[in-house]
Amino acid sequence: MEFFIDTANLSEIKEANEMGILDGVTTNPSLMAKENIFGKENINKHYRQICSIVNGPVSAEVIATDYKEMVQEGLALSDLHDNIVVKIPMTAEGIKAIRYLSDKGIRTNCTLVFSAGQALIAAKAGATYLSPFLGRLDDISADGVGLVAQIRTIYDNYQFSTKILAASIRHPMHITQCAEIGADVVTAPLKAIQQLIKHPLTDSGLAQFLKDAQKGG
Ligand code: E4P
Repeated sequence: MEFFIDTANLSEIKEANEMGILDGVTTNPSLMAKENIFGKENINKHYRQICSIVNGPVSAEVIATDYKEMVQEGLALSDLHDNIVVKIPMTAEGIKAIRYLSDKGIRTNCTLVFSAGQALIAAKAGATYLSPFLGRLDDISADGVGLVAQIRTIYDNYQFSTKILAASIRHPMHITQCAEIGADVVTAPLKAIQQLIKHPLTDSGLAQFLKDAQKGG
């Protein structure tokens, strides 16, 4: 399973990259706003910076909602760096844009996915990645992890090559549950990734080993 970090924060991206387990990055307009990155030039500069840190796919989301403008924006984003994957929302216009970019050999990430039907359409359009938002489904008492399982079955039934990129991850259990199901990629905040490392028995076991190692001088 590939690990992406879901942030536009450069320090967090560097920290995750230095762990040696990072395969890519996902961003979205809200994450960019959180870092106070506004305006086309600043946004493009920020994407280039992220791409210079991580040697893997970096999802950059289009702001346009109209097919032609999405395509234009997507082409411009993909020109920024070889690592860029164009992130496009799951709308009728978005699906047309995914088809167009995919036919041009440009990688896409279909975002804001909340149903198996949407996942089926995105795969048919040739999306490289599909982002089901687990946490936001859980927030409304729906089954986010269950949706990932459903999509896995559908994609396997027909050997769709679209990769399932589990998104809106809130905690380490989401990550391990997605790994059990066979999600291709998980994109998570740094904290959830770090929480995977921690276990109280590891901490107490290590403390005891260190204590015993001191015995005898
Ligand atoms: C996915 O690519 C999105 O950036 C992200 O996972 C959304 O997560 P949120 O629901 O925590 O905003």
